[in-house]
Amino acid sequence: MADLGAIVRDIAEEMRALPDKGKVADYIPALAGIAPDRFGMAAVMADGTCHKAGDADVPFSIQSISKVFALTMALGAVGDALWQRVGREPSGSAFNSIVQLESEHGIPRNPFINAGAIVVSDILLGRYEPREAIGEMLRFVRALAGDDSIVVDEDVARGEQETGYRNMALANYMRAFGNIRHPVEKVLGLYFHQCALAMSCRQLALAGRYLMARGQNPDTGRSVVSPQRARRINALMLTCGHYDGSGEFAFRTGLPGKSGVGGGILAIAPGVASIAVWAPGLNERGNSLAGTLALERLVQATGWSVF
Ligand code: DON
Repeated sequence: MADLGAIVRDIAEEMRALPDKGKVADYIPALAGIAPDRFGMAAVMADGTCHKAGDADVPFSIQSISKVFALTMALGAVGDALWQRVGREPSGSAFNSIVQLESEHGIPRNPFINAGAIVVSDILLGRYEPREAIGEMLRFVRALAGDDSIVVDEDVARGEQETGYRNMALANYMRAFGNIRHPVEKVLGLYFHQCALAMSCRQLALAGRYLMARGQNPDTGRSVVSPQRARRINALMLTCGHYDGSGEFAFRTGLPGKSGVGGGILAIAPGVASIAVWAPGLNERGNSLAGTLALERLVQATGWSVF
């Protein structure tokens, strides 16, 4: 049996020494100031052991990784009716692209591009008041991680709001098609706040355990989602979780994964481990450069690919 602790520490060391670490997202001021040489990794195993290295306990902005938790909550709220308003196909376009919405009648390709996540926020507002929705999401991720210290970074949320012109365009455009039903400012308020959730790799890997464990929260033994729903969310992460870099990520790691522009990635080895990495430098598709490489190395060393 491989020494997982040593594997994770070796990967962290290799990533720290990487000469090209990519480019930190700079369109949100609070993200632009993050040092590109940060690196953290945590792998929580099915038996509860956690192997971690580097900045694994430093909170970072999870950004689009929150789309996984939002989707899970929205499916809980409206079930499969959600799929009448959001597709399940990779977009092959940038995360914030608007082009497909015109010919596809305001129905976003999938819940992990911005347009899809904004519809998911709108669906959540059909269940919760705007003010309580973000509180519910916070409660949800805290319960999944078994950690009450997770918070929303208000500085990041404000930055999103101030620079979110494309998201406003997406939301207004979909509203014109009738696929956004609540006031755009309220829908985006929720979306911006969920993107601003701050979590460490350890907290994120813990929060992802239900996707490793057939939908169960291992702390409570309770079902978060059905095994079928967990399988479907994993399938969407594999095919759509890295935007127009989804094929490349699947090719290199063979794992369902969801990235965020903060440089985090949540990856799931079903039945085996929930893994989170954080390396703020991004590649040309807006996905963590060293984070992807670290996961590729982990799969090479452990054979955890689903294929
Ligand atoms: O909507 C945005 O612009 C971001 N705050 C979230 C996007 C994101 O993380 C996309 N990721 N790779």
